[in-house]
Amino acid sequence: MSSIAIIGTGHMGRALGHGWALAGERVVYGSREPGARRDLGSVAPGAAVRSYGEALAEGEVVVIAIPFSQVASFVQEHRDQLQGKIVVDITNPFDDLKDRNKAAAQITSELIGGRARVVAAFKDNFAGTLYREDRRDGERIQVRVAGDDDAAKAVVASLAEKLEADVLDCGSLANARFLDAMVSLMVFLDSAYADGHQRSGWIFASALCE
Ligand SMILES: NC(=O)c1ccc[n+]([C@@H]2O[C@H](COP(=O)([O-])OP(=O)(O)OC[C@H]3O[C@@H](n4cnc5c(N)ncnc54)[C@H](OP(=O)(O)O)[C@@H]3O)[C@@H](O)[C@H]2O)c1
Repeated sequence: MSSIAIIGTGHMGRALGHGWALAGERVVYGSREPGARRDLGSVAPGAAVRSYGEALAEGEVVVIAIPFSQVASFVQEHRDQLQGKIVVDITNPFDDLKDRNKAAAQITSELIGGRARVVAAFKDNFAGTLYREDRRDGERIQVRVAGDDDAAKAVVASLAEKLEADVLDCGSLANARFLDAMVSLMVFLDSAYADGHQRSGWIFASALCE
């Protein structure tokens, strides 16, 4: 059974790992300080916490859940291990993109080069909304995915569905630049209409404006 390697142990890494662990997936975290992250066992039952390199060696799917500003150095350092793997880029670049015509996930893909299989996903899902047990009865979230590798996108879609999400295929990796932009708007709407509680998703943020 292959593992999902989640790089980063913050809000998103915890929320995704929690959901997948409860759904029976094998999760391994990659952390800068694996020894200091022992509490993750209670967040994502059964999950291991390793160094970046060790987690990448175990993971068939790699979720990049670190700040966008750290992605380039992470990818450059681990480029060989990322070849051919399904890489889920969840990072939000906000104002850190030098070229606004390019998606953060395209930059990640270019940095990996060669056999990159990058899928942009979860960019517009606030971490708090990923916990199924905190949702209202029957409430589902939407997860938008974009990528050029259909097989990789299908794997990521099925992982999103394990979090009781409806998946919207948003097309090519280039379309992820629209996802990058809509996150800023979502954060603004959440702040303006929902006290910045980050419990809404994009569709709920929109509904608040009606
Ligand atoms: N929060 C959200 O609702 C949300 C939603 C969608 C997407 N995102 C994106 O998902 C990514 C992670 O967000 P997050 O909210 O989980 O962030 P976070 O709570 O700050 O966690 C980021 C994790 O990345 C690791 N990391 C590696 N280098 C780091 C550095 N230089 N500074 C800080 N942390 C570093 C840390 O894990 P270790 O200490 O174990 O190494 C840290 O726990 C970001 O790119 C963000 O834009 C966030």
